[in-house]
Amino acid sequence: MRQLHQRVISSVTLVTFALFSVTARAAAPPPVEAEHGMVVTAQHLATDVGVEVLKNGGNAVDAAVAVGYALAVVYPTAGNIGGGGFMTIRLRDGKTTFLDFRERAPLAATKGMYLDDKGNIVKGASTDGYLAVGVPGSVMGFETAREKYGTKSRQDLMAPAIRYAKEGFTLNQADAAELNEGKKWLSRDPATAAIFTKSDGKPFAAGDTLTQPDLASALSGISDQGPDGFYKGPVANAIVKASQDKGGILANQDFEQYKVRELEPVKCDYRGYQIISSPPPSSGGIIICEILNVLEGYPLSYTGYASADTVHYMVEAMRYAYVDRNSALGDPDFVDNPVGKLLDKAYAQKIRDGISPYKAGVSKDLMPKGLGESHETTHYSIIDNDGNAVAVTYTLNGSFGAGVVAPGTGILLNNEMDDFTSKPGVPNLYGLVQGEANAIQPKKTPLSSMSPTIIAKDGKPFMVIGSPGGSRIITITLEAIINVIDFGMNIQEAIDAPRIHHQWLPDKVYMEPHALSPDTVKLLTGMGYTVQVDNDWPIWGQSAGILVGGKSLGDIAKGGGARYNGAMDSRAGSGLAAGY
Ligand code: DON
Repeated sequence: MRQLHQRVISSVTLVTFALFSVTARAAAPPPVEAEHGMVVTAQHLATDVGVEVLKNGGNAVDAAVAVGYALAVVYPTAGNIGGGGFMTIRLRDGKTTFLDFRERAPLAATKGMYLDDKGNIVKGASTDGYLAVGVPGSVMGFETAREKYGTKSRQDLMAPAIRYAKEGFTLNQADAAELNEGKKWLSRDPATAAIFTKSDGKPFAAGDTLTQPDLASALSGISDQGPDGFYKGPVANAIVKASQDKGGILANQDFEQYKVRELEPVKCDYRGYQIISSPPPSSGGIIICEILNVLEGYPLSYTGYASADTVHYMVEAMRYAYVDRNSALGDPDFVDNPVGKLLDKAYAQKIRDGISPYKAGVSKDLMPKGLGESHETTHYSIIDNDGNAVAVTYTLNGSFGAGVVAPGTGILLNNEMDDFTSKPGVPNLYGLVQGEANAIQPKKTPLSSMSPTIIAKDGKPFMVIGSPGGSRIITITLEAIINVIDFGMNIQEAIDAPRIHHQWLPDKVYMEPHALSPDTVKLLTGMGYTVQVDNDWPIWGQSAGILVGGKSLGDIAKGGGARYNGAMDSRAGSGLAAGY
């Protein structure tokens, strides 16, 4: 029956379904409309900073830099200068590029650094405290972006962040809740606790002010001296000293040798849309493309959002793609990534040939050789009046990273080292079972799932999208894309719609609450799937997206939509889409 569907549905019918289908739409507030520029971030003050930069004649890259620094102050759970990330850029003339400012392993890192003498993982070693810290890249990343593609001075772009750090900012309910949820983690290191917990031991409440004077002076140093204000001198010295005092391996050389990589983004075509996304050391772009290539062979707009058929195709595509993610990909300076193969449409056809239309696949049947058996990042999307588009995902990895701040710096440090394979076959923080390609080596970057993505259509920007969510970043971003392209949702609906996720191992279909109806779950169970809500992680990543030309494909087809349509995930309590 399903194969018959595929044969009889003409592409015209598919397009009609995609544009005008009104079935199974998520309820969501309308996207935010604007004509000249749009900024979507997980913290409203940072969004306002970005909009001001655009209004004052800065371009999307300028705004991205100012937002990056602002989030480091007003969104400490993930915004950072002590972590790293990726920036995907598509300029008005169609040129695309990608900046990799993710963390690198310290020079003293070793493959088995998180194992005890019996070869077992030391619990918490790759996530807690200084041993978990990779060499941060955000400052060098923002400065590289600004110098190459921005137009404004560093001082201009950093001023709002410095002001919020020095004078403080007022917490709203969601800001306070984030800090309160992290209280235990933030209390273990005295320098961290002094900033991010209250001295009277009480929880934060809406209306409280968070002031970060040490961070203000670190930011001022960077503003005055550029990256040297971070990678050389007092800030680097303080981090290295704290690391040496507390069991870490960071050295001044690690900071001095840090470099940003400018790379070609990964590109693929999905039903006539050009996807531009993150290349290795991210797995994101390749795996999104691999899944989309497989899904392109199925009539998703006909099978419909959240139906058993659609979920079956999605899960099988995800299963195959995550095997490739976890076994074959790694830092391109260390590993020969099979990018061509994984992006090949013929490879996607081979995968489809292995998918039964009637029953679930079995993950362990796909086991590659060499493998045995609350979390935070943030994404923001920006587009300016000229059509320059920027997608940034950056992270400390876990919520508030390693939970450590070197005394005097005010800078929360990442625990990105956990993204490496500590031991082949043993799951990391996100349950990823990974292999040798992602093993630890000095100066190597751990494999990421971050997927800052820009989509173009007919040579023009169409969508800017991305999300936090650990290993789920890939499927969250993917689902926002197909919700718009295949299911006709508007950008806010596409982001808010409950999601499903499969990552090969564990061999389970995770769903957000209410993502699938009980009878859909029953159908999937009958096909051999284990479907469940993930109680350890009830709320998944928070997408930030922009659609150009209308709020949905139907709106665009009618020709009357607003130029820019922004949507911040309704799951994000403090986020905001705003434009002008
Ligand atoms: O780079 C990665 O794939 C992870 N460090 C991202 C972590 C993350 O998204 C946590 N946020 N929810």
